[in-house]
Amino acid sequence: MRRRDFFKTSLLTGGGLFLFKKAYPLKFFPNPSKHKWAIVFGTRYGSNRDAAIWISEGMGAIADVFDARENPDLSSFDYLIIGSGIYYGRITESLEALIKKNLPLLSKKVKAVFVVCGAGGTDRAKQYLENLAKLCEVEPVAMRSFPGRITKRLLTPDDFKLMEEFYKKRNQPFEDYDNLQRKDCLQFGEEILKKVI
Ligand SMILES: Cc1cc2nc3c(=O)[nH]c(=O)nc-3n(C[C@H](O)[C@H](O)[C@H](O)COP(=O)(O)O)c2cc1C
Repeated sequence: MRRRDFFKTSLLTGGGLFLFKKAYPLKFFPNPSKHKWAIVFGTRYGSNRDAAIWISEGMGAIADVFDARENPDLSSFDYLIIGSGIYYGRITESLEALIKKNLPLLSKKVKAVFVVCGAGGTDRAKQYLENLAKLCEVEPVAMRSFPGRITKRLLTPDDFKLMEEFYKKRNQPFEDYDNLQRKDCLQFGEEILKKVI
């Protein structure tokens, strides 16, 4: 069998499994970069995942992007960016646990923090950012809050009920919204890179 045919056959049959043993569901593969960057996000419903990927894209797609629930090993990275959704005033439990576990490392490497939340862009969100920076024991070069989104069909029954009550109390309709803008995230990524490099 010719060498080329061998590769073709192995890729299309079981032999290809050796080459593609590890499957990554929607892993973000970063571009090469002089410094190793990682963005770690906490999310319940996905808007922080999107923001994290778009922030990396704003940097030229050079950052590896991790969900805090993956419990990534952050020791090999030079710089970190940390972000989360806000739920009753708090970040996700998985991100909080990861921060506490990696504290000495984080306080040296975290360059920027962000939140994607209902109050994005307001003074309340500024408070969330300050709390997150404090938790990481850093003074980041860049902080940004983004307005987030609600997709009712994704909410857990508990979250659904609480959000329903929240809007009812305020006499406001409880509806889907989506205020997260990709261009704002791209711009934030660009800003971080300019400030650090
Ligand atoms: C149960 C629940 C509680 C929330 N509590 C807050 C809050 O205290 N402050 C806020 O600004 N946004 C709050 N939000 C809005 C979320 O932060 C916003 O929907 C964000 O986009 C969620 O991020 P995610 O999609 O990455 O999970 C809440 C949303 C839900 C579903």
